[in-house]
Amino acid sequence: MPPKTRWVERITVLILSCLLFSCTPSKESQVVFSVGGTPAELRGWELLVRDFRKQSGITVEILLLPADTDQQRQSLITSFEAGVRNPDVFLMDVGWLALFSHSGWLEPLEGIDTAPFFAKVIDLADTYNGDLVALPIYMDGGLLYYRKDLLEASGISAPPNTWEELVRSSLAIQPKMRKKRPDFYAFVWQGAEYEGLICDFLEFAGSNGGFVLEDGSIHVNTPQNRRAVQFMHDLIWKYKISPPNTYTEMKEEQVRRWFQRGDALYERNWPYAYRLHEEEGSVVRDRTGIAPIPAPKGSTSVSTLGGWHIGVSRFSDAKREALEFVKYVTSYQGQKQMVLLLGWNPGRQDLYSDKEIVEKMPNFPKLKEIFRNARPRPMVPYYTQVSEIVQTKINGVLAGRFPADGALAEADEEIAALLRRYGIP
Ligand code: GLC
Repeated sequence: MPPKTRWVERITVLILSCLLFSCTPSKESQVVFSVGGTPAELRGWELLVRDFRKQSGITVEILLLPADTDQQRQSLITSFEAGVRNPDVFLMDVGWLALFSHSGWLEPLEGIDTAPFFAKVIDLADTYNGDLVALPIYMDGGLLYYRKDLLEASGISAPPNTWEELVRSSLAIQPKMRKKRPDFYAFVWQGAEYEGLICDFLEFAGSNGGFVLEDGSIHVNTPQNRRAVQFMHDLIWKYKISPPNTYTEMKEEQVRRWFQRGDALYERNWPYAYRLHEEEGSVVRDRTGIAPIPAPKGSTSVSTLGGWHIGVSRFSDAKREALEFVKYVTSYQGQKQMVLLLGWNPGRQDLYSDKEIVEKMPNFPKLKEIFRNARPRPMVPYYTQVSEIVQTKINGVLAGRFPADGALAEADEEIAALLRRYGIP
């Protein structure tokens, strides 16, 4: 090729790239939003992002993460530790908010009226050193789902109030169901080794159990907790009313699908499962009731406080746009859209009395009370490490690797060593 032609070519490429760059929206009008969840949730986000773009002219690119809370946390931590600017805005599990705010990864959210949100949650989870650093997108609290039709057919008029009642009705109904459905197990719950196991454990332990905090330190080796872990083990191995894959595979979605295909009487899950159980084609449609989590003997029922919060990265270079997005998705209209689409329980209290919502979802006011009283996990920056220690031990008990007593004693030793590393006596 003659040198002249090469120059012409080079100049053309240069002109084309300049045009291309000036046509591409600058990073300032683009926001990267990372989120995980069920396919239905992701479709909901796509719609919200589309409406936000129409209204604001800001494009939001969705960065999909796995649904599992631990995997989402790890993925975000990797980005923040590297100090990269994406994602600009993201969802966080309430269980790791303390870690994120303490690590300085969250940009304060200015100009937001927090009055409509659950005050306890804003104080406990979303405020750090006096700054608002996140807002609740939706609230979670553990619930017991039950098959109304199967209880009725066995002459049982109400769902169980205690774990003993749950075992009794399960043992009565499971053998009958097995004749037609060989995979029927009366009770499905989250037993895999991940954060969901801890949420369930707190509910099995009831109001006298959990992480006993003393002067900032944490203990789990208490009689109530040992009883709870033994009971979790017995559900699988002694009563045989929970499937053996509980400790290997059962996370929210596995549990929900098991119940939804008609193979369980009871299910422990978060409120999102209700809408999916009522989907067209679902075996359990119009047959599912919800009730508070049963209580252990001598204690009252506990529902673990869960939920997801939105925040803006300190490393973002589109903070103003990211904040606009946060305001949009936490507005009355933005949250209402997600509630109607997904049956979510919003972080705004004012939506719980919205006429249209209550008409479509009569359980709504009942759920508000469950959230108000739900039990939080410890809001300390090292909580996720404590949780990992306890998860491994409890899961080991479920797998038959350790006895309940020894496992929790070992958990306490490991937690104490961890706290020493943080300088907590
Ligand atoms: C739900 C809850 C969250 C909890 C997680 C455990 O996503 O909202 O708070 O940590 O389940 O799997």
